[in-house]
Amino acid sequence: MPGRLITIEGLDGSGKTTLAAGLLDVLRAAGRAAELLREPGGVEVSERLRALVKDPALTVGARAEALIYAAARAQLVEEALRPLLAGGTWVLLDRFVDSSLAYQGGGRGLGVAEIAELNRFATRDLTPDRTLYLRVDPAVGRERTGRRLEGFDRLELEGRAFFDAIAATYDELAAAEPQRIRVLDAGQAPEAVLSGAVAALADLLSA
Ligand code: TYD
Repeated sequence: MPGRLITIEGLDGSGKTTLAAGLLDVLRAAGRAAELLREPGGVEVSERLRALVKDPALTVGARAEALIYAAARAQLVEEALRPLLAGGTWVLLDRFVDSSLAYQGGGRGLGVAEIAELNRFATRDLTPDRTLYLRVDPAVGRERTGRRLEGFDRLELEGRAFFDAIAATYDELAAAEPQRIRVLDAGQAPEAVLSGAVAALADLLSA
């Protein structure tokens, strides 16, 4: 049986990393072969593009930014995602196409339809089996990100309007595709977010 692609989405500071680690344990305890990957990154080419796109010392135009994320994604899909899924592994992926729709399509104002088209090319139409959207108030997410020791990366230095637009776009995407995209309240305690996520995957886990 092919594996499943589960993506985790949300604003910076929404708790994706914590949820991903918890879910990985749950999947493995349930006897599934499971791997956790992140975007941008996961394979060497994409990790190098990650360093480039996050560097606060660089000025990157919106279109170039969209293309860099798409290039990192194309390599991850070809080198890691398709082989893992074909081998029956469940892949938990911290960010995927919806991040580009929200950040570049909404946040940068390039348009969701345009970014979707670019990503269809990049991924050859690979679509997640389920997407867990950690919904957080942009101000709360920002406050949580600010508490990290490593400081802000290039995108995190953006202002409030950018993150408000991203949050609004995520909400629109979730409303348009309620079967694939499940909304989790990221304001809850981590254990509650994890159990909500497991419930949102129950049908896939029992199949
Ligand atoms: P990362 O450190 O992974 O952020 P987080 O751990 O908070 O998810 O950095 C990824 C940054 O890149 C994050 O600010 C979101 C942004 N991003 C995009 O703008 N578009 C994309 O397609 C992806 C995958 C990420």
